[in-house]
Amino acid sequence: MTIKFLGLFVLTFTIFTAAQRTCPPIVPEPTQPARTKRQLDKNKDGSSFLWVIEDTYAGKTFFDGFDFFAERDPTNGSVEYVNQTVAYANGLAYVTDDDHVFMKGDQWSWLDWGVNRQSVRIESKKHYTTGLFILDLNKAPWGCAIWPAFWTVGMPKSTWPCLGEIDIIEGVHDNSHNQVAWHTAPGCLLTDKPAVNFTGTKVHSNDCDAFINHNAGCGITDWSRASYGPFFEAQGGGIFAMKWDENSIAVWNFYRAAIPRDITTGTPNPDQWGTPSAMLDSAGCNIPRFFANHSIVFDITFCGDWAGNSYATSGCPGTCPERLRDPRNFENATWDINTLKVYRKQLFSGGVVGSHNGVGRASHFGWAWLLSLWLFAGP
Ligand SMILES: *[C@@H]1O[C@H](CO)[C@@H](O)[C@H](O)[C@H]1NC(C)=O
Ligand SMILES: *[C@@H]1O[C@H](CO)[C@@H](O)[C@H](O)[C@H]1NC(C)=O
Ligand SMILES: *[C@@H]1O[C@H](CO)[C@@H](O)[C@H](O)[C@H]1NC(C)=O
Ligand SMILES: *[C@@H]1O[C@H](CO)[C@@H](O)[C@H](O)[C@H]1NC(C)=O
Ligand SMILES: *[C@@H]1O[C@H](CO)[C@@H](O)[C@H](O)[C@H]1NC(C)=O
Repeated sequence: MTIKFLGLFVLTFTIFTAAQRTCPPIVPEPTQPARTKRQLDKNKDGSSFLWVIEDTYAGKTFFDGFDFFAERDPTNGSVEYVNQTVAYANGLAYVTDDDHVFMKGDQWSWLDWGVNRQSVRIESKKHYTTGLFILDLNKAPWGCAIWPAFWTVGMPKSTWPCLGEIDIIEGVHDNSHNQVAWHTAPGCLLTDKPAVNFTGTKVHSNDCDAFINHNAGCGITDWSRASYGPFFEAQGGGIFAMKWDENSIAVWNFYRAAIPRDITTGTPNPDQWGTPSAMLDSAGCNIPRFFANHSIVFDITFCGDWAGNSYATSGCPGTCPERLRDPRNFENATWDINTLKVYRKQLFSGGVVGSHNGVGRASHFGWAWLLSLWLFAGP
């Protein structure tokens, strides 16, 4: 087994895998057209839509939207996930006066052999079915023995993997390439290049089925060295964006100097961001039937199924249990977050939808042009 293969063991709720081998079909909800103004994007069928803000997680109220998960790590990490009270008391979760949201692994305690290191895992109270998730962060955790993830997963947990799992930021040790992955019920396949465009490299299998290949799922390694670890941090962090709709699930990342203006202005249009790092396209996977009711999760674990099993070949010193003992090894086990914004898709029915002929496109273009003029000329 290669490290990359092990890499896709990922975040599984292992206790459920043995029990459940089939999934009832998800029945997708119909999307309602809406009447709104501003930037337009286009579906494959030609209909227009835009992304409007639904939730902002930021500053002093960031943690209000999350539950602290204080149970045994399902990925077998040498971690003690603590509840909110302990996390606050021990400085593992806090918000600074200038609204940086921090989550950390314990960076202060020397541990006896075999003792787990304290850390934090949080899960959004609200569940989402589709959306545009934009995380602005200054630092993501990295370093030997450290395994962080920012991901979404179907709730309740007992349904896993029937409602799907989307791993947006994930890696171990000193990796400098982020890995995006999907874990689903049987029947969802990743369509590779050149039929579908993404800049990353497919990791292992095309089959996202979590019941096979030891839950390897299907994954894509980011092309950019600035997508994970020390290089991402050296850029001052940046943006990770995950777009999930009926057409595809795609992930982009931008280091700070390259953040598109439409993100900064709060009117995101992924259509203008160029080729994504990773994409699961509806060509091989009926997205609405494999993904629903996701909670947003941040965690930092140590050793375990990925960081532990790959430790010996990682180039990191000693062994993972040894590494775990010294708090100085965890100085970079830190999430430093500015905002997490969730946008929802609204179909546009402003008199241009349904025009598939040349005239319609021209008037559509005129509309978009006028609206963007209005947008950019605004205060
Ligand atoms: C998602 O959650 C809603 C609200 O709890 C529920 O009605 C719906 O059946 C769930 N969808 C799936 C596919 O489980
Ligand atoms: C994680 O540990 C459980 C038992 O605690 C075990 O059944 C499972 O196989 C382990 N996962 C992996 C991927 O080794
Ligand atoms: C949080 O965890 C601590 C330590 O396990 C425990 O004593 C405390 O009762 C917990 N608090 C809540 C609110 O669950
Ligand atoms: C992929 O990108 C290339 C270069 O931009 C473009 O020529 C090609 O049409 C794209 N393919 C698809 C399937 O979108
Ligand atoms: C933490 O990050 C700093 C800055 O990149 C680096 O010099 C240091 O070696 C890192 N510490 C560990 C334990 O990885």
